[in-house]
Amino acid sequence: MTDLVIQEEKIIERILTLELVRVTERAAVAAARLRGRGDEKAADQAAVDAMRRELNRLPIDGTVVIGEGERDEAPMLFIGERVGTKTGPKVDIAVDPLEGTTLCAKDMPGSIAVMAMAKAGSLLYAPDVYMDKIAIGPGYPKGVVHIDNSVEDNIMALAKAKGVKPGEITALILDRPRHAELIAACRRVGAGVRLITDGDVAGVIFTAQADQTGVDIYFGTGGAPEGVLAAGALRCVGGQMQGRLILDTEEKRERSLKMGIKDPKKIYDMTELASGDVIVCATGVTDGALLKGVRFHKEMIETETVIYRSVTGTVRRIIAEHREMEKFKLD
Ligand code: FBP
Repeated sequence: MTDLVIQEEKIIERILTLELVRVTERAAVAAARLRGRGDEKAADQAAVDAMRRELNRLPIDGTVVIGEGERDEAPMLFIGERVGTKTGPKVDIAVDPLEGTTLCAKDMPGSIAVMAMAKAGSLLYAPDVYMDKIAIGPGYPKGVVHIDNSVEDNIMALAKAKGVKPGEITALILDRPRHAELIAACRRVGAGVRLITDGDVAGVIFTAQADQTGVDIYFGTGGAPEGVLAAGALRCVGGQMQGRLILDTEEKRERSLKMGIKDPKKIYDMTELASGDVIVCATGVTDGALLKGVRFHKEMIETETVIYRSVTGTVRRIIAEHREMEKFKLD
């Protein structure tokens, strides 16, 4: 590749960073129209349709590597689907058009529209399964916590590295019966546990802003797609994360083998989940600690979006006022 071509690619990627805002904005507005309607599927579908329409306007040759499911079960934005005008750079796309479908359906805090983009081959190509995750924010020695260490050891090590007592550590965990022992173990060692009902992409990102969120560590099992998206964002703001796919049936192991995953027990670190120059973009659907939700005014729609770019570590927040209401009605 000549220097000129590399330079051109870089310029295209920089421009694309801002183009992604439109994609998550559209998905967020479409889902927000269905906030509180109790219909998770309809809200998700609206976000998927809007995100797909907008993605297909981008000058990229994109492949969805993290999507709404696998080809045979998900009609749109399935893993392997090609998106974009197919004329620009070859990129991997990870999407979660509505992260926190239940939160949106119940109009509870924290649902977002989120996606990531990176050079082809940079994002983990994985089936839609669960992932064990552990994440902490920046400023700690490498390897201070490890997914295979006991909960107690991880909390003690983190507390020591932070220079506080274990009782001053707060862990964020999805409130699920499967996490009962994890929660009990955190409490046994004296740590506080903050429970969330959904939305662990933001949950992982919160560890990077411990002074504001009060969250020191994220633990537990959530979606693998959410793991990849969170890793991309955490790489930008700094921190450490490990994830391991839960491939607990022959069927899941076969599906992942087809996607090139040879070691079903592999522990992926943050850069293996999302490598290279990763851009992660999220727009709030409902109000949350990470982002404000969509506001519908008489003649304007307001959105808040955050974009993370790993190569530069830049985080941009964009508050947009959309006045072309007709455009948004299509979504
Ligand atoms: P959805 O938007 O797909 O409902 O995901 C919400 C979520 O809470 C994720 O943030 C999390 O990774 C996953 O669900 C956990 O899965 P489960 O609800 O099956 O425990």
